[in-house]
Amino acid sequence: MRILVTGANGQLGNEMRVLSVAHPGHEYFFTDVEELDITCREAVCRFVREQGVDLIVNCAAYTNVDRAEEDEPTALRINADAVANLAAAGTRIIHISTDYVFSGDEHLPCREDDPVAPRTAYGRTKLEGEKQLLSLCPEAVILRTAWLYSSFGNNFVKTMIRLGREKEQLGVVFDQIGTPTYAADLAAAIFTVIEAPEWHSGIYHFTNEGVCSWYDFTLAIHELAGITSCQVRPILSEEYQYRTPRPHYSVLDKSKFKHTFGVDIPHWMDGLKRCVERMNE
Ligand SMILES: NC(=O)c1ccc[n+]([C@@H]2O[C@H](COP(=O)([O-])OP(=O)(O)OC[C@H]3O[C@@H](n4cnc5c(N)ncnc54)[C@H](OP(=O)(O)O)[C@@H]3O)[C@@H](O)[C@H]2O)c1
Repeated sequence: MRILVTGANGQLGNEMRVLSVAHPGHEYFFTDVEELDITCREAVCRFVREQGVDLIVNCAAYTNVDRAEEDEPTALRINADAVANLAAAGTRIIHISTDYVFSGDEHLPCREDDPVAPRTAYGRTKLEGEKQLLSLCPEAVILRTAWLYSSFGNNFVKTMIRLGREKEQLGVVFDQIGTPTYAADLAAAIFTVIEAPEWHSGIYHFTNEGVCSWYDFTLAIHELAGITSCQVRPILSEEYQYRTPRPHYSVLDKSKFKHTFGVDIPHWMDGLKRCVERMNE
């Protein structure tokens, strides 16, 4: 298969690059905004036509949640209009979406068909991307994920390692619950979809297994990184000056993905261990 990976310089895009080596049966085109700006429909359609692309894996997105509040039109252009451009190219698509399409007010893991109610500009634009994609390309696969981190790019794991080394004390919120997801495991899930005997279109939830708060996550990060000099304190969200509201409970139910593709998913602690080991290499 000839596979175009967009946003290939991001966390997930880089993990797709790494994992592609273990899947040599395909030809890959790894592009980011420099090589292929997905907001330009003509460029997208031309690229797909000229390179004979069979499948697009869209890892490109406007992911800065705070900045999206101040500049929703730009977020909308990248998270929704550009997704419609990809759909217009007429190939199969695997697109990545987010737990932020939900309100985060629930107390049970969200299923794919639960009511959506985004509370942020980022969530609204990602939801609009889902809608546009499904209306133009009903055969698409959408994977919603959450709390993504990797050894590539900037993320919570790297920030906590840095702060843990710099500070003696750190307050981290314990009233927001979710599932940290190693982008390498999401990349593996994408290859599971690509190489399944049949194409199973639709929306799926994919994160690592288990749940925790950001506070618990930080304790695990520090332990694995060997940081002992920083005392981590649990704080409430209201004690932290968030510029944008964050969901209190954003756990995704992954049953549909596991049943459809017949796979087990690693626990978040396992993913974190592999990520920190790789960062130490
Ligand atoms: N990070 C999370 O915690 C999280 C949680 C849930 C879901 N997701 C979703 O998971 C997916 C992957 O996230 P990620 O963390 O890997 O994102 P990321 O690290 O921010 O990577 C996104 C990449 O897309 C590029 N990009 C932006 N605009 C583009 C354009 N017009 N054309 C082509 N490329 C463009 C970005 O370039 P610049 O850096 O130059 O803008 C960046 O390299 C996204 O769909 C995101 O919404 C992420």
